[in-house]
Amino acid sequence: EMDKFIDDLMGNMTIEEKIGQMTQLTSGWDVTGPTINENFEQLVKSGRVGSFLNAFSAAYTKKLQKMAVEETRLGIPLIFGHDVIHGHQTIFPISLGESASWDLDAIKTSARVAATEASAQGIHWTFAPMVDIARDPRWGRISEGAGEDVYLGSRIAEARVKGFQGDNLKDLNTIVACAKHFAAYGQAQAGRDYHTTNMSDRELRDVYLPPFKAAIDAGVGTFMTAFNELNGVPATGNEYLFDEILRKEWGFEGFVVTDYTAINELVPHGYAKDEKQAGELALNAGVDMDMVGRVYDQNLKTSLEEGKVNEQQIDLAVRRILEMKYRLGLFEDPYRYSDEEREKKTILSKEHRDAARDVARKSMVLLKNESETLPLKKTGSIALIGPLADSRPDMHGSWASAGGGWKNRTTVPVSLKEGIENVAGNVKINYAKGCGYGLGETDKSGFAAAIKAAKQSDVIVLAMGEAQEQTGEATSRTEITLPGVQSELLLELKKLNKPMVLVLMNGRPLEMEKENEAVDAVLETWFAGTEGGNAIADVLFGDHNPSGKLPVTFPRKLGQVPIYYNMKNTGRPLGLQGHNDPANKYRSKYMDAPNTPLYAFGHGLSYTTFEYSDVRLDKTTLGMNDKITVSVEVTNSGKYDGAEVVQLYVRDLVGSVTRPVKELKGFEKIFLKKGETKTVTFEIKTEDLAFHRKDMSYGVEEGDFQVFVGTSSDNVKESSFKLTQSGAIARR
Ligand code: IFM
Repeated sequence: EMDKFIDDLMGNMTIEEKIGQMTQLTSGWDVTGPTINENFEQLVKSGRVGSFLNAFSAAYTKKLQKMAVEETRLGIPLIFGHDVIHGHQTIFPISLGESASWDLDAIKTSARVAATEASAQGIHWTFAPMVDIARDPRWGRISEGAGEDVYLGSRIAEARVKGFQGDNLKDLNTIVACAKHFAAYGQAQAGRDYHTTNMSDRELRDVYLPPFKAAIDAGVGTFMTAFNELNGVPATGNEYLFDEILRKEWGFEGFVVTDYTAINELVPHGYAKDEKQAGELALNAGVDMDMVGRVYDQNLKTSLEEGKVNEQQIDLAVRRILEMKYRLGLFEDPYRYSDEEREKKTILSKEHRDAARDVARKSMVLLKNESETLPLKKTGSIALIGPLADSRPDMHGSWASAGGGWKNRTTVPVSLKEGIENVAGNVKINYAKGCGYGLGETDKSGFAAAIKAAKQSDVIVLAMGEAQEQTGEATSRTEITLPGVQSELLLELKKLNKPMVLVLMNGRPLEMEKENEAVDAVLETWFAGTEGGNAIADVLFGDHNPSGKLPVTFPRKLGQVPIYYNMKNTGRPLGLQGHNDPANKYRSKYMDAPNTPLYAFGHGLSYTTFEYSDVRLDKTTLGMNDKITVSVEVTNSGKYDGAEVVQLYVRDLVGSVTRPVKELKGFEKIFLKKGETKTVTFEIKTEDLAFHRKDMSYGVEEGDFQVFVGTSSDNVKESSFKLTQSGAIARR
């Protein structure tokens, strides 16, 4: 039925109208919300536009849609895309923060709520999830993904796609998802955004591609191209990525949109001599829709006349786009998403804010807690100090584009100070900002007031980290320390010898060895969203026991970067002695720091303690198409009820190509009442052990494996098994 409908429609389309479907424009913006200029209006009315980004609100999208449906020859509806990344109006923690929950239901809920709000405002399509594996904290966009690990990243990609898209794209509270940025954007050289990427096909396929494939298996409807080049070929003109892998190997049937002006950028990349050629390269690589750049709109017709592209390729792109519009029900009712009643009811509803608070609490990671400094008592006095202690907009973090309502953006998020007032009303708060957080800022004039506030208080709570605009796109840094004089203030306050808690807000791992040493407790809160202040206070005062685990390694020193848990062993591993032991001179190490991170992947404490039994296996050998069961008993041996993320890792000891020292293969988040014990069981299937072997075939190799279960990648118990056969495994 769909095919027939689209055949008939395409039969009537002129080449200009076809190229129009492949053209996405951006809506403008003023104080009243999204706006459109006259030139764009004319383009819409002449059928030269297929999509808009940055257009939302029920009334505004209805207005634009009306132009497309009622004032064009064929009445084809527009598809409205938007960056609905971690919430839409009700903002949830940044994606890296949500990922620290290791709670797939919570992550799915966040995407579900975002879709519910966005779809009520006329949005059909989100440019999320961002599934780029990222291992370089200099890169600001590390905040937008799920961290460093391929397994965790893949599970989170699935959860997000399912959350956004729901069970059926025709359901009104769903939006179509977009896996981005294809591909390998996360490995930008030296952490500089948009920079060059070079990697082996094996690394690409074993580490960077699986989360994209997981998104496809979860039903993702669209893909976005990446800005970077990969092995000399910019992703947006990369046939290998789009034609070969995405379409031919993976059979992806949805459509591909470029990143913002990415086709035009093939020219400065030095891959196309002009925009016309850039458009030809992109289309021939399999890129269907041009975001903002208007390269297709301006050139594709000429390219067709010159025979540089053919009409079948254009038709294929148009068909894919129209199919998505059809699947969303837009041909049946183009206004079905733009519903002012639903908009009023859903945006920032109590239910959504409660969900945001819950997910935010689950995302926080207790990095350190000496002498049970946390939780704080709801009595006495606290000095609340730092540039992030009473800042509302910062709570949103990066890419909260619609966040909080465009009219009251600065009033909606709950600051930490407000959160503490809400949660622990009897505590006396002595607040002082102390200093700013600007990069290179040197002003210490607020120190005296901060010291005074600290002297008057029982405990010092420091809210420090990065500003909202210091993370996300185009925010690469050459240092990952606390910006400005925050660290100096912290070390000044240390001299008072009072219990000190560091509440971090940041979008990337920070270098903070000395700050970590100076304080008694560290709570990583990322950017916690609309309900951020309440959620942090819930954790600080023990109404919620933290259970987050790092999805990314925190280095001791920037010079260790890239540092991630599943590294290779090298021919000269450091062994157990210290890095400065003379016996270790010719080992793989640094002279001035250990190899180990400050905080490892998977690390995260609780107010309670968990004890692990030895690891049990149901057998010690494994064949092809087989599985082994791994179990462990976990006991809550402390004073509070709490949740724990039990993590399973393996190591393949010898391979036709070397294998990492540990690879995450499973995890389960369990809740244990104090004193309670639960048995956690994992299955390792033969196929879970596959990789791209020496000849690039995908499969397993016989030999010995270690298996580890524990509370973080650097705190595990161990057992072993043998794989008795080698063999090919169908690529996932
Ligand atoms: O979706 C984003 C992308 O991640 C970065 N460039 C702009 C796009 C649309 O806003």
